[in-house]
Amino acid sequence: MAIIEEQEELQNPLVEGLLLRRKPDPCALVIFGASGDLTHKKLMPALYALMLRRLLPERFVIVGVARSEGDDETFRNDMQEAVKQHARDEFREDIWSELAESMHYVATDFADEGGEDAVHDLLVRLDEERGLGGNRVYYLAVPPPVFPTIVDALGKRRSATGWTRLIVEKPFGHDLESARELNALLWEHFDEREIFRIDHYLGKETVQNMLALRFANGIFEPIWNRQFVDHIQITVAESIGIEGRADYYERAGAIRDIFQNHLLQLLSLTAMEPPIDFTAESVRNEKVKVLRAMHTPGPKSVARGQYGRGFIEGVEVPAYREETGVAPDSMTETYVAAKLFVDSWRWADTPFYVRMGKRLARRETTIAIQFKRAPHPPFEETAAEGLRPNVLLVHVQPDEGVSLAIGAKVPGQGMSIRTVHMDFLYGGAFRTGMPEAYERLILDTLLGDGTLFTRSDEVEEQWLLVDAIVAAWQRDRPSFPNYAAGAWGPPSADDLIHRDGRSWRRH
Ligand code: BG6
Repeated sequence: MAIIEEQEELQNPLVEGLLLRRKPDPCALVIFGASGDLTHKKLMPALYALMLRRLLPERFVIVGVARSEGDDETFRNDMQEAVKQHARDEFREDIWSELAESMHYVATDFADEGGEDAVHDLLVRLDEERGLGGNRVYYLAVPPPVFPTIVDALGKRRSATGWTRLIVEKPFGHDLESARELNALLWEHFDEREIFRIDHYLGKETVQNMLALRFANGIFEPIWNRQFVDHIQITVAESIGIEGRADYYERAGAIRDIFQNHLLQLLSLTAMEPPIDFTAESVRNEKVKVLRAMHTPGPKSVARGQYGRGFIEGVEVPAYREETGVAPDSMTETYVAAKLFVDSWRWADTPFYVRMGKRLARRETTIAIQFKRAPHPPFEETAAEGLRPNVLLVHVQPDEGVSLAIGAKVPGQGMSIRTVHMDFLYGGAFRTGMPEAYERLILDTLLGDGTLFTRSDEVEEQWLLVDAIVAAWQRDRPSFPNYAAGAWGPPSADDLIHRDGRSWRRH
């Protein structure tokens, strides 16, 4: 992580390139699932952004692989549209042609006998023509049932020279057992250091800033513990619904879609001990300790919900059970709230209240560290009526930044105290656009840096917790739907926190 001493001029995208200390080796990036949504909406726009900033290797090729008919020409045209529609930067013909020139397409099905030959032969040819040294990144942007066939084929035909890396998209398994099976399958052919399991939240700038905030500033660490912190709230709220993904979401629900991965990663970064250095192993060693120190919450400490009809920004939206592809009596949860504990010296007895859901009033991901009240305010009671305890609020998205709520004297005669906010906003402080998570994650894979990827033991610990919660759910049947789209979740989520004499952060 580069340290910028003063506000540098970051408006020029090339400056980002200069901040990077090393360029990736020449290599081929092979994307399985090249005709899918992820490639169109995230991967290709990210590659374009990296190209624009000169962050890709000098010798680099992209090979798209999918079952759909097509050739280099159709692939390039299709991806050009994707970039025009989804990239964060304006479209530049010169940048695009440079990128497009490195793009190839193979229509094949690995399930067919010899289906992998075409990809293999093309890579061998490109190695010779472009001097890629046999270096490969394989990106599995395909549904999990297809993983085994592809992984087997890739493992059997590893390049004799260079390095190989494998990016695996979520969901990583459906429960602990399937995640273990998947790990075992990957280890048959790949070393753990060659496997890059994506949790795209780790690629978000503000999530990484949690590490900077905690470990680059001397003032927070001494108070980042049970002595000074009353509790922590983590919110991952979305106003969108399931966006046509009923097939996946019906099986996943909020617990597997967000809690198992994004939410638990946010919690680990918030609760972890300072790592001795910023290497992949040190950072992940500390995160996995947090996951291991968590115990299964009792039934009263978990609330689940499913949205009914309602209004989002004044527009009426259907109930979850009315979404296309969803069973009319579906018991899939679209909301989860929980009270969790990390049993360590730092955090014992400090609740982590977490909540996440679809079709909530608005999009907001925040981590709120709520500190204990001042032990003895020497003012008259009425003076501090409007004063709330100090809160350090990390806005992961939108309005990325950090805000500290403090008490301040209202100007005028007498002593009256109110809560005010000291704000740091990314937009204002750095005058640069925020990179998309996938830009960072793709680049890190090209560089072989696994710090922002989930290690096998983390994934397994995450599933252990989720499996225990889901097992307890088999014993009761809440009456769904129990919150209206556009609300902030079901009443049971409020009960969960009110019971402790606390409440969810106001929005
Ligand atoms: C994905 C989930 O992992 O994250 C989606 O599958 C969710 O359901 C998405 O909408 C949220 O990501 P972001 O980056 O928009 O917060």
